Amino acid sequence: MDSARSFATADVAPFRNQWIDPFLFARQAMASPRRFGAILPSGSALGHVMARMVRGHTIVELGPGSGSITRHLLNGLGPAGRILALELDEGIAAHLQQNLRDPRLTVQVGDASHLDGWLSAMGWDGADSIVSGIPFQSIPAPARDAVLSSARRSLSPTGRFIAFQYGLRLLPTFREHFRRVRVIGPIWRNLPPAYVVVGHP
Ligand SMILES: C[S@@+](CC[C@H](N)C(=O)[O-])C[C@H]1O[C@@H](n2cnc3c(N)ncnc32)[C@H](O)[C@@H]1O
Repeated sequence: MDSARSFATADVAPFRNQWIDPFLFARQAMASPRRFGAILPSGSALGHVMARMVRGHTIVELGPGSGSITRHLLNGLGPAGRILALELDEGIAAHLQQNLRDPRLTVQVGDASHLDGWLSAMGWDGADSIVSGIPFQSIPAPARDAVLSSARRSLSPTGRFIAFQYGLRLLPTFREHFRRVRVIGPIWRNLPPAYVVVGHP
C-alpha cells in the first residue's frame, strides 16, 4: 500500500471553465469567509507538492473546493484508484462535480468531521491518504479537533494525512492527533505561500 507512486508534473486535466472557477470560488468564499479561509483556489505548485506526498489507492480529499488540488490527485492516480471528495459547500461541490468528471472521483456534500461515517456509507474500509484543504486556522477549535479526530480514525495504520497551512501555529494541534508530523515548504509559488503538513498515525 505504501509504495511510492510517481506523479506526472505536466498534463494535468484542465478545467472546462478555467476562468469561471476562481470567480465562483471567490464568490462563495466571500459569502462564507471562515469556512473557506482563502479568497482564491490553491495554485498548481501547491497541488503538485500535495499530490506527490500521496500514497496508496484509496484517497480522501477534505474541502476540495473548486478542485485545484483534486485534478493533481487524479493525475497521479492509477486506473484502480478512487477518491472521495467531501465538501461542505453545496454550490462549489456541484460545480466540481460538473467540471471534473472522472469515474474514479466521487464528490459528496458533507462535513469532514463525519468522515468515518461517510467512508462506512461508501463501504470503504479506510483511507490510504487523506488530503485536506480545510482552513483549520479559521474554524473554531472544537470543529478543528472533530475533523482531525475523524481523519485519524479513518486512516489506515500506514496512511498519511496531508494538509496545507498558511502558517505553523497549529503544529502542536497536529502533533496531538498524529504520532509523527513533518513539514514541507514553504511553497513560495503559492499565493499566499503555504506549508504542507504530513501527519502519520
Ligand atoms: C481554503 S478552501 C480550499 C479549497 C481547495 N482545496 C483549494 O486548495 O483551492 C477550503 C474548502 O474547505 C471546505 N470546508 C470547510 N469546512 C469543511 C468541512 N467541515 N467539511 C468539508 N469541507 C469543508 C470549504 O467549503 C472550502 O471549499
